[in-house]
Amino acid sequence: MNHLMGLMRPAVEDVLARHPNNAVMVDAGSGNAYLGFVLYELFLKNAPGGTLLSIEGRPDLTERAKGRAERLGFSRMQFQTAHIDTAQYPERIHLLMALHACDTATDDALVAAIRHGADHVAVVPCCQAEVAAQLKEKRPVAAGGGSSMSLLYSHAWHRREFGSHLTNVVRALTLEAFGYQVTVTELTGWEHSLKNELILGRRVHRENRRARVQLERLLAETGVAPKLTRELGVKPATVSASEEPEAPEPVAPEDSEPGPA
Ligand SMILES: C[S@@+](CC[C@H](N)C(=O)[O-])C[C@H]1O[C@@H](n2cnc3c(N)ncnc32)[C@H](O)[C@@H]1O
Repeated sequence: MNHLMGLMRPAVEDVLARHPNNAVMVDAGSGNAYLGFVLYELFLKNAPGGTLLSIEGRPDLTERAKGRAERLGFSRMQFQTAHIDTAQYPERIHLLMALHACDTATDDALVAAIRHGADHVAVVPCCQAEVAAQLKEKRPVAAGGGSSMSLLYSHAWHRREFGSHLTNVVRALTLEAFGYQVTVTELTGWEHSLKNELILGRRVHRENRRARVQLERLLAETGVAPKLTRELGVKPATVSASEEPEAPEPVAPEDSEPGPA
């Protein structure tokens, strides 16, 4: 947790510096809201304002966390029992995080971040099954035919690992396409968790057309359609574009408009 806080500190401090009275942070798939409690204790408790909304699908966990927040006097912690994809979000989110939100729930969290113009995102994806299932539909044909790339996922074990890797590559590239500067790093030692990939995003452009083209090509070449790109309306490339797309125009995050609805 200390290591995660160290990695998130620049994002949290940036949000609080720019929105000291009304910072909006969201923890999607919050479970017992441990991340929220630590963040509140370290950063929000003594700030003049700002809220932290925890969204969790299990009502028992929401109720328990709510009671704990009341006992601690953490009055600007808010709780909502909802699915991440249908939750009621504040119009503008400044920081969205999702720690080990299962399967496509991480995609739902990223969709919310992009739609609500989050300046910062931090996700540690959990297990992933959707893309592995899509890859199964595209099983490689017998030796002598098809692309040898498909041999990367012809065995179920490889398909699971490759599917998970591909999912996270698509997540990082999607964030880039929607204007985020992305860092992918290790959360903690492998001995603590196999779900260990931290994707950090900071919004610096309105959009990044080069990343968008790369993303569309990747979808076309792999034949997958993860929930994240489906929800955001990103389609696979239909032609092999040889033109290099323009570099993105930088824009300060505070000037940026929320992403597409
Ligand atoms: C592995 S736990 C992680 C909890 C917390 N983020 C943490 O790291 O301690 C995943 C949590 O996400 C919740 N969850 C999974 N999918 C969800 C969804 N689509 N909407 C809301 N909550 C979800 C689960 O109920 C569970 O509490």
